[in-house]
Amino acid sequence: MSSKGIRDFRPRIHFTPQDHWMNDPNGMVYINGTYHFCYQKYPYDTVWGPMHWGHAVTKDLLHWEHLPMALYPDELGYIFSGSSVYDKYNTSGYGTKENSPIISVFTSHNNETGLEQQSIAYSVDGGRHFEKSYLNPVIENPGIPDFRDPKVFWNPVHRCWGLVLAAQDRVYFYGSRDLKRWEKTGEFGPEGNHANGVWECPDLLQIKYEDKVFWILVVSMTKTDEGRWRTQYFIGDFDGDKFICTYPSDEAIWLDDGFDNYAGVTFQNYDVPLLMGWAMNWAYASKVPTNEYCGQATLARSLSICNTKAGYRIAGHAEGLDKFRHMAYPVSSGAHLMTETFGLRIKGEGNGKIRLSNSDGQRLEIEVAEDIITVNRAIAGYREFDEQFMTPECSIVSSKRLKEGNWDLEVIFDVSVLEVFADGGLNMVTMVVFPDTPYDTIRWKGKLEVSLFEIS
Ligand code: FRU
Repeated sequence: MSSKGIRDFRPRIHFTPQDHWMNDPNGMVYINGTYHFCYQKYPYDTVWGPMHWGHAVTKDLLHWEHLPMALYPDELGYIFSGSSVYDKYNTSGYGTKENSPIISVFTSHNNETGLEQQSIAYSVDGGRHFEKSYLNPVIENPGIPDFRDPKVFWNPVHRCWGLVLAAQDRVYFYGSRDLKRWEKTGEFGPEGNHANGVWECPDLLQIKYEDKVFWILVVSMTKTDEGRWRTQYFIGDFDGDKFICTYPSDEAIWLDDGFDNYAGVTFQNYDVPLLMGWAMNWAYASKVPTNEYCGQATLARSLSICNTKAGYRIAGHAEGLDKFRHMAYPVSSGAHLMTETFGLRIKGEGNGKIRLSNSDGQRLEIEVAEDIITVNRAIAGYREFDEQFMTPECSIVSSKRLKEGNWDLEVIFDVSVLEVFADGGLNMVTMVVFPDTPYDTIRWKGKLEVSLFEIS
């Protein structure tokens, strides 16, 4: 049986391309109330192909306006992942004093040779139109196969621009005064890393905690031991030249325990780290049963630091939803769901199990026990589109709790995307599911208080 063509799985508040393929979020920058969101796009099919940068904007992080394509492939190659910054003081000289440019830094990937180098483009009309620089490539390949995904950030130590990019099993750091001439300043890895895979899509961000500032290095890892693509992070410091992991761990620390959150990076020029990932997994991305489009982004999550029994850890909070959260009303087990896009706020004591189900007998389950949270999509919907998607390894995830005792959950469900934030966001689980008919009932076991809010 196939759901392809039968049902519209398009989420309503998660970003999706109007049509065709998307993967990583790119070039995310906040300017005067507008969030710019670019993304890896292949505009001619629902599978990966020669990469472009698609572009959309939003003011509320939930409703999106599609803009014309930002970047097209050129003689240097496909346009792979990268970032954008708001060059307010026109350090690049591509704008004017009155008209600050947006500068995008991306990987030019030559598909014949595999050669990867970094290039730049600029926009002087608020991101409507991008022009590539004649200086490209601005960072040449040093002779290695994987050398990509530049993320630019402000370096407060040397008061210049910083850049981190992925280079096989580590990251490289660069510095620049004008976003055009870059000098390598340091490396991090592979020491201290406990996960397999090639490093991709790094981000270096600061999070304030009490009177401390933590620097967090986020890195996405291809095909980890569990056979899935995941994002990890390291906690430490930045000396102006490189990241230093000052809180080493004996095992990888993952940002999200679900199957579907990859390549996440943060918005530049925003007060707090605000991260969006690709809510999909390379393992089965090209086969999912959506019709005219393929792939979506996660909700934007603000990141903070918590001191837990396992040490400092990141907690995430879904942004843009407060006005709906304020309208939450209590529900009892067996309640009917009137919409496919809603949030649940749950307080629990002891073990608890929450189930969303539909009239086809399909159900998505979230279980909280003393020290573990489990999310199970094994019989949550249509899954025959891909063999790996059907395996138990791809159906059930466990997320270790970092708190003891009473717990809280925020569950955001949006047609075919589930995002779970447990214990104040210390546990995050993102999963896609394809229920043949909408979930229409919520039931639970355990001592739970549940309220529901609709999101539109
Ligand atoms: C991550 C990634 C990046 C690359 C892009 C290509 O998902 O592999 O490393 O730039 O996708 O589309």
